[in-house]
Amino acid sequence: MIGIIGGTGISTILNKGREEIINTKYGNAKVLIDKESDVVLLFRHGIRHNTPPHKINYRANIMALKQLGVDKILAINAVGSLKEEITPGSFVVANDFIEFTKERKSTFYDGENGEVVHIDVSEPYCPQMTELIKCLLNNRGYKYCEGTYVCTEGPRFETKAEINFYKTIGDIVGMTAYPEVVLARELQLCYGSICTVSNYCTGISKSRLTISEVYETINEMENEILNIVEDIINY
Ligand code: HPA
Repeated sequence: MIGIIGGTGISTILNKGREEIINTKYGNAKVLIDKESDVVLLFRHGIRHNTPPHKINYRANIMALKQLGVDKILAINAVGSLKEEITPGSFVVANDFIEFTKERKSTFYDGENGEVVHIDVSEPYCPQMTELIKCLLNNRGYKYCEGTYVCTEGPRFETKAEINFYKTIGDIVGMTAYPEVVLARELQLCYGSICTVSNYCTGISKSRLTISEVYETINEMENEILNIVEDIINY
């Protein structure tokens, strides 16, 4: 079974599947299950997009997918670009991350059973899923590259000084990759991420960044995003 984790702007795959609330040890997660095509959809900001990135219950979401028997996850993340050549409207397949989050519950290994676990994240994104995403993007002829995702706490956008620093260490900036990718790895789920570039980050473009710019670009990318989701479901 495949899990699709949608982010900002993919509400139109909502009409697929039956809504269910999954109870986990970490809280509840709302999902849409489409038994026919063996797909679970999960909207990380909530079905009505009302949960900000720093308030998402990442542990409940990932545990719910695991409990449902999901073994592969395609995550969709909206991001800003740190590089001129990574243009809004294109895709980035995340292949590594650096994180600056502050208040997120980021592990299933909290030492509860007296067990101390340090997992390997030398390849945080599942290579098989990453290859598949790249292959589907190639087949569709969509513009993409691979890159390092810098994850911030949000919900505010970044300062120019922050972006000047981030562009020396990464390619794209978003607020939702972490801890989702690590939690999936802790549960041995094959997790890959397709990032939709919605804007140039603060100071990279001359205009002031607003959330409407993000929504506008994601709206324009909607058909391409849905095509990739469909391809992955039919694969
Ligand atoms: N910064 C952080 N998160 C984002 C951005 C950005 O510029 N665009 C979309 N998500």
